[in-house]
Amino acid sequence: MKRATAEAGERNVFELGTEARRRLFAQVIDLIEEHNAGVRDLPATPDVAPETVRRHLERYDFADALEPGQVLDDAAAMLRDWIVHTTHPGYFGLFNPNPAVMGVLGDLLTAAFNPQLAAWSHAPAAAEIERHVLGFLGRRLGLPGEPVAGHFTSGGAEANLTGVLLALTRAYPRIGEDGIAALPGHPVFYASAESHLAWLKIAHMCGLGRRAVRLVPVTNDLRMDTRALTALIAADREQGLLPFLVVGTAGTTSAGVIDPLVDLADIAAAERLRFHVDAAWAGAAALSDRLRPVLDGIERADSVTLDAHKWLSMPMGAGTFLTPDAEGLLETFRISTAYMPAEIPGAVDPYAASAQWSRRAIGLKLFVALAAAGRTGYAQMIEHQAGLGDELRRRLLDTGWRILNDTPLPVVCFSEPTSDAARLRTICDRVLSTGRAWISVTTIAGTPALRACVTNFATTEADLDTLVAELDLARS
Ligand SMILES: Cc1ncc(COP(=O)(O)O)c(C=O)c1O
Repeated sequence: MKRATAEAGERNVFELGTEARRRLFAQVIDLIEEHNAGVRDLPATPDVAPETVRRHLERYDFADALEPGQVLDDAAAMLRDWIVHTTHPGYFGLFNPNPAVMGVLGDLLTAAFNPQLAAWSHAPAAAEIERHVLGFLGRRLGLPGEPVAGHFTSGGAEANLTGVLLALTRAYPRIGEDGIAALPGHPVFYASAESHLAWLKIAHMCGLGRRAVRLVPVTNDLRMDTRALTALIAADREQGLLPFLVVGTAGTTSAGVIDPLVDLADIAAAERLRFHVDAAWAGAAALSDRLRPVLDGIERADSVTLDAHKWLSMPMGAGTFLTPDAEGLLETFRISTAYMPAEIPGAVDPYAASAQWSRRAIGLKLFVALAAAGRTGYAQMIEHQAGLGDELRRRLLDTGWRILNDTPLPVVCFSEPTSDAARLRTICDRVLSTGRAWISVTTIAGTPALRACVTNFATTEADLDTLVAELDLARS
């Protein structure tokens, strides 16, 4: 690779000159456009060993300045050849989105202006943009508070961690100062056996230990068994444990199933427990008037996780944490320092109400995307994809597959009438090796399954045809 030219070299290498900058911005736009135009013909899945990538990277010893245009070309080539393309229309994957163009542009603006969202006074525009967008999401979910409290997060795991910390702080006001050891027992919380297992990491990070997560069995429809939940709470209390939180999952990761949120809200209220809803991906359904009822009960949550980098098609990472409990959030992350700018009356400093300190303005990309598409634009996309999910289910049934989950959301879990995990893995690998589609294997309620999810706005009925055809070949 060439060393940097005199033009780039003689100037500050971090700033470059106006001409060089314009050329490089244009080059990146061309690289992105080229990628978008050609991604359908790229293999959705890379076939590469770690050594290949590492060998390639050895050329970068960072000793001298290299020609910036060539560096960008090479970075794009690595991305083209060596990642799973979530932008591929045949990516029936794990909610990793094809990012909306406005989201990408919003992210670029954010990177260039680089607002610091630790303190409100450092970035009033960015802070108020986020507050405005969160308010909109809160109203769609029906959460009390005008606007609802909360913040953007790196993703769903951070938002769920925040949910546990807030619930702990509210349930045991002493915990913030004295820690768990000061409590008269060990706190435990409840999520379904089909929930996202970041709960285990979160329990460890909070000092509760993984055993504090009580994974409640599910009924045949894969929703949390509420009778088992109440029995478990009673048994735990009997043993001197301290139940403090019920988590409902609105859209399980594997099967897209929504826990009985109204019942869970009732149980949490009766048992005097906090209620968090993990709607990391399916919370987006709140933007559709037609699909909003599938989330009924979410409006009673003490806090909600809703990721914009899943079904709202934002570039990663863009999670949100929403809660009517503004005071609780301030208490959970309470801090003040001499070196941070002074508080502004009527404004919340994000560093004192969330887990992160210095923080990127995550919400700006969602703001511009929402403004440009409108809620109705999002609703159309979400409803269209739910329809494609139904269509895929029909086509799989017609071609002899067995459907294993029942959900209004576009996640389809399926298998052959008789097949074990190894056989499904083989079928999945064969499909991936064609490069024309990306699906995965999972286990739901102990049963192995293939899984295909439609949350990519570029996916069409023709891509369903391709997937079904490749599945047919793979099992023959
Ligand atoms: C239901 C659910 N919750 C939480 C998460 C974790 O979100 P993230 O990967 O953004 O941290 C996921 C990820 O797929 C999820 O499906």
